[in-house]
Amino acid sequence: MSASSGENALREVEAKGLAAIEAARDAAAIEAARVKYVGRSGELREAMKLLRTAPAEERPALGKLANVVKEKLTAAIEARREALAPGGASAGGGVDVTRPGEHRASGHLHPLTQIEDELKHVFACLGFKVAEGPEVETERHNFSALNIPLEHPSRDAFDTFYVSDRVLLRSHTSTVQIRVMESGPPPVRVVMPGRVYRPDRVDATHHYCFHQIEGLAVDENICFADLKAVLNLAMRALFGKATRTRFRPSFFPFTEPSAEVDISCPFCGDGCGICKGSGWIEVLGAGMVDPAVFEAVGYDPERYTGFAFGMGLERLAMLRFGIDDIRLFLENDLRFLEQF
Ligand code: PHE
Repeated sequence: MSASSGENALREVEAKGLAAIEAARDAAAIEAARVKYVGRSGELREAMKLLRTAPAEERPALGKLANVVKEKLTAAIEARREALAPGGASAGGGVDVTRPGEHRASGHLHPLTQIEDELKHVFACLGFKVAEGPEVETERHNFSALNIPLEHPSRDAFDTFYVSDRVLLRSHTSTVQIRVMESGPPPVRVVMPGRVYRPDRVDATHHYCFHQIEGLAVDENICFADLKAVLNLAMRALFGKATRTRFRPSFFPFTEPSAEVDISCPFCGDGCGICKGSGWIEVLGAGMVDPAVFEAVGYDPERYTGFAFGMGLERLAMLRFGIDDIRLFLENDLRFLEQF
């Protein structure tokens, strides 16, 4: 027997064997192919017997080739077995239809982010851009430029975490009003969402860390009616078309006149536990920008007027989703978050 006919015989066993293994559709067919090609008296053994008649100097190379073919066939058998095993790639035509389905959890937005996004959308429709500012702030941005002088008792209303002498964790998002106005001239139309901090004792309605969204519009001829119209729209978008607003006179150092704004209770017509029987729920503070604030940022108070408002996102989310404890927002408890 010549070397090349020996090689041909081995190659033929390899080709036929691989084709049979590939064609096997179940474990029995694979086993049959194994016996037929690499079994004790299989075709590979038969081919190897013939190699004894090959010239002595060719035998070592043919022996090596025979081993390579055996390894290839054995590996192919193994791979085919795995592919056909339950859950393997080819089982049941690619899918094991008997396996229970796998639940893939898909994430969703935090309830506060949902409210923030809704408000940003409403205000975007009215031409308001979004601005953000730092949570660690200067005394100027949190107080002085907002017409809250040093030692003034009104600072108590915005009780504050100090980082150092003149640096603090902002106690409201009104800081961003100042940053926006410092960065360019009117007209201004912005909403400013973000985290704020106050050293409040934590309970169901207070937290040392919560979120606000601030609004600011500055231009010639802006008046209180503009403020009312914008807030009416926003509250109706959040709580439904039937929602009414009520503006009560109030005081903020950075707005004049100032108002606390209530919405008609979304839970009842004329009084329930949540609105404490009044039919109204306070949701935000607002007013016309105080001329002293314009002076602090270099805007001409004779030429420009504007309105500003600030509201707590937690409060809005609690009303909207019927959540009764502010602490839940920051606990990251999935049992809570998955409900929204
Ligand atoms: N900054 C005020 C607060 O935190 C809310 C406010 C903003 C009031 C803008 C008037 C105008 O309570």
